[in-house]
Amino acid sequence: MKIPFVTREQVDFMTKQFPTPFHLYDEKGIRETARAVNAAFSWNEGFKEYFAVKATPNPTILKILKEEGCGVDCATDVELLMSHKVGFSASEISFTSNDTRPEEFAYAREIGATINLDAYEDIAFLEETCGLPDKLSLRFNPGGVFALGTDIMDHPEESKFGMTKEQLFKGYRELKQKGVQSFGLHAFLASNTVTNAYYPTLAAQLFELAVELKEQLDISLDFINLSGGIGVDYTPDNQQNDITVIGQGVRENFDKILVPNGLGHISIYTELGRYMLAPHGHLITKVLHRKETYRTYIGVDSCAVNLLRPAMYDAYHHITNLSNPNGELETIDVVGSLCENNDKFAKNRALPKIKIGDILVIHDTGAHGFSMGYNYNGRLRSAEILLQEDGTARLIRRAETAQDYFSTLYGFDFDK
Ligand SMILES: Cc1ncc(COP(=O)(O)O)c(C=O)c1O
Repeated sequence: MKIPFVTREQVDFMTKQFPTPFHLYDEKGIRETARAVNAAFSWNEGFKEYFAVKATPNPTILKILKEEGCGVDCATDVELLMSHKVGFSASEISFTSNDTRPEEFAYAREIGATINLDAYEDIAFLEETCGLPDKLSLRFNPGGVFALGTDIMDHPEESKFGMTKEQLFKGYRELKQKGVQSFGLHAFLASNTVTNAYYPTLAAQLFELAVELKEQLDISLDFINLSGGIGVDYTPDNQQNDITVIGQGVRENFDKILVPNGLGHISIYTELGRYMLAPHGHLITKVLHRKETYRTYIGVDSCAVNLLRPAMYDAYHHITNLSNPNGELETIDVVGSLCENNDKFAKNRALPKIKIGDILVIHDTGAHGFSMGYNYNGRLRSAEILLQEDGTARLIRRAETAQDYFSTLYGFDFDK
C-alpha cells in the first residue's frame, strides 16, 4: 500500500494558496530517513552520507539534510555553488563529475570539495588545470556485469563512468609519487536496487581492493564511498529496502575484510539520492480533461516536464486519486499535455473513478523528479512546496513564469 503523506484537507488548503501542479516534500519523512541512515552506519566512526544534490537540488531540502548531519555530493559547478552558499563546509562537499570542464575542477579546488576523479586521464587534466590537492578519490569500474547471485543488476562494462582496475592502481601509484596524501575509493555499479544485498556486495568488492592497494602499493585508503544506488520500490506491493539490515551487511564485510588487514580506520561514505528523498515527494496535480477514444485518457495539469521518469524510463509511479480514493475502479491512461505520446504518467492503470477537478497524488517523486525537468513545448517548471513538521506548507521555489522562460533571449521584448 502507498498512502500519501498529506491529507485531502491539507491539499485543499494548499491549493487555495498555491496553484497546481506542484512538487510537495515531507520534512518529517526526510528527517526520519536521514536519521535512519545515520543510525544504520553509526558503527563506523567516520560515516557520512553525502546527499546526491542532482536528486533534489533545492537549498531548503539541502539545509534540512545538513541539520541532520549529511554532506552533499555535487556533479557540476552549479551544484557546488548551491551547496557552498547553503553553508556546507569543505569537508561536507564531494565532487563526483565526469567529462568535467576545467573551471569546474578549479571551483571545486577553490572551495575545498573532495574531488572524486572519474577517469585515469583526469589526473593529468586536473594537475594541468589547477594542481593536485592533498586528498583525492578515484572512481572504479570493474567492467563485466554486476550480479547478485544469478540476478544481473547492471552492466558496468557499458557504463561511461569510472576507471579499470589497472588504471586505478596506476593512478594511485602516480598520485602517491606526486605527493597526494589521502585517498578514497568510489564505485556506483547498479541503480535503484531493491535488495538489501547491493551495498554489502559492493562493499565487499571495494574492501578487497583496499586490501590489495595496501599490499601492493602500501596505500591505506581513508574512505570508501559506496555512492548511490539503494532504491525504493515504486510499486505498492513489494517490500522496501531495510537500511538497518543494509548497514549491518556492510559492517559484517568491514569486520571480515578490512579490520583483520589493519584497515579498520576507513570511513564509509554514501551518496544516496533516491533512497533519501524519493518517497518524501509527491507531485500534486489536477485533472483538467477526460477524453474517450480507443482508451480513456485523463489529462492533468502537469506533464513530463514536471516528472520525466515515466517518459524516459517507462517508470512506474503510483497514483492516488485524493478526491475519490475508494471509488469504483476504471482502467485509464493519465497523460500530460506535451506533443509527445510518451507523456503518460500511467498506462492502462486501474484507478478509482476520476472526474474533472479531482486532485491526483503521484508518489515517490522526491528524487530525480523536479530536477530532471525541462521546458519542451514552452511548458514551465512547477513550484516546490515543503510540508513542514508542524503541518503547514511553505513555498520553497516558486513556479517558473513565461518571463523566466524568455529571460535568456535577445532581440525581442516579450513583456505582455
Ligand atoms: C555519482 C552519483 N552519486 C550518487 C547518485 C545518486 O544515486 P541514487 O539516487 O540512485 O541513490 C548518482 C545518481 O545518478 C550519481 O550519479
